[in-house]
Amino acid sequence: MEPVKLGLLGLGTVGSGTVNMFHRAGVEIERRAGRQIVVTRAAAQDLSKPRDCETRDIELTDDPMSIINDPDIQVIVELIGGYEDARDLVLAAIRQGKHVITANKAMIAKYGNEIFAEAEKHGVTVAFEAAVAGGIPIVKAIRESLVGNHIQWLAGIVNGTTNYILTQMRDEGWDFQTALDEAQRLGYAEADPTFDVEGIDAAHKLTILASIAFGVPLQFDKVYTEGIAGIGREDIQYAEELGYSIKHLAIAQKTEEGIELRVHPTLVPHRRLMANVGGVMNAVMVYGDAVGRTMYYGAGAGSEPTASAVMGDILDVVRSLSAGPDNRVPYLGFQLGSLSSVPVLPMEAIETAYYLRMEVLDSPGVMAAVTQILAELNISIEALLQKVPEPGQDTVPIIMLTHRIRERQMNEALYRIGQLEAVQGKIVRIRLEYFDE
Ligand code: NDP
Ligand code: HSE
Repeated sequence: MEPVKLGLLGLGTVGSGTVNMFHRAGVEIERRAGRQIVVTRAAAQDLSKPRDCETRDIELTDDPMSIINDPDIQVIVELIGGYEDARDLVLAAIRQGKHVITANKAMIAKYGNEIFAEAEKHGVTVAFEAAVAGGIPIVKAIRESLVGNHIQWLAGIVNGTTNYILTQMRDEGWDFQTALDEAQRLGYAEADPTFDVEGIDAAHKLTILASIAFGVPLQFDKVYTEGIAGIGREDIQYAEELGYSIKHLAIAQKTEEGIELRVHPTLVPHRRLMANVGGVMNAVMVYGDAVGRTMYYGAGAGSEPTASAVMGDILDVVRSLSAGPDNRVPYLGFQLGSLSSVPVLPMEAIETAYYLRMEVLDSPGVMAAVTQILAELNISIEALLQKVPEPGQDTVPIIMLTHRIRERQMNEALYRIGQLEAVQGKIVRIRLEYFDE
């Protein structure tokens, strides 16, 4: 059989990892695929840049369209990133009848509905395992292995950069910027690291996970998104004292009213596996009605862990070249014509527990005023920590954990507490999940 020829768009962190993997494991890959697979052409922006992989046998270009238009290339691997340019390239490849593999969660979350519809029309495959949680085969697990389940919720640490930053701040006492600089140096961060820090990257991934878990269209614009910039080292420390770790979680949950889609820092009890996922590692917990709780753990970013997922897709696509596109797994796990229109809930309707930290004047009656507001709104307190004032300070921090309530109630409480004269500055609110059921 003729070798399958691949064209790589992008030769950065993931692109070079993919080439390196071909050099190291090419023979093994050929044995698994049943035919030879070769990267014949690759595109990058700056051809004079040194590469982290051997490119002697690859024809390089700075014009990705020339690869897409090359009739010898059957499969395009898109590893450029970004929204519009990547979408245009992928759509052009699909219209040329080429199969596409991508690690680009931004593009899939925003334009996936359009891309999949176009791919259906042209009878080609678009594979995107590397787009969610780096090297963890979570797309395959949900879309194929758990099909006997109604998935009720999933929750995950799906951004390696933010997990790395929070871990280094807690374990090494690094400040935020030092940890971010190091994550960038290690190739974990997005080209624009605000995507990581502000939770946008995690929201892209959650969009994809929710669709394949619940059979709904991709709805990135409906994800409530909060990043880690508001988390101080003192919050990490207080949470630890109370028996919790702060993790940046992406949560999708089916309720009777609709679907919750939310990304935000979350307190997780130390006893939970999720609280112990450190560094660049990712973990996704999926709750199915038949299987119960399952958890998937592994490197969430980095050159070869991500290339590992890209390679899995390459093999699937190459095998499908013999099987035919009609035999492939549906993109979102359900046939595109049978997606459900269950609504995504507004954030005020979700229910969770909370950590609150506020600076208050060190005077009598303040605590009573705060707790009275909470009592009036039916919010009960699970734990309370009051610190002694620092020398020369006239305010003290109060830290509280609440029971589960609606976000709407908490918004009202924070508004009313914020009106108290004794409360100084902004109240820190971090959501808390127990994962008990
Ligand atoms: P990099 O920035 O390291 O690499 C991007 C590559 O694309 C570079 O080689 C760049 O060229 C090339 N490129 C950019 N624009 C063009 C263009 N217009 N024409 C031709 N080439 C272009 O990104 P990553 O490898 O980190 O990420 C690639 C994709 O994988 C992104 O979608 C990202 O979100 C995703 N991803 C990344 C992970 C990671 O750990 N890094 C993990 C999971 C997914 P040049 O080198 O010359 O600048
Ligand atoms: N910037 C992303 C992260 C890369 O840190 O998780 C992996 O998708």
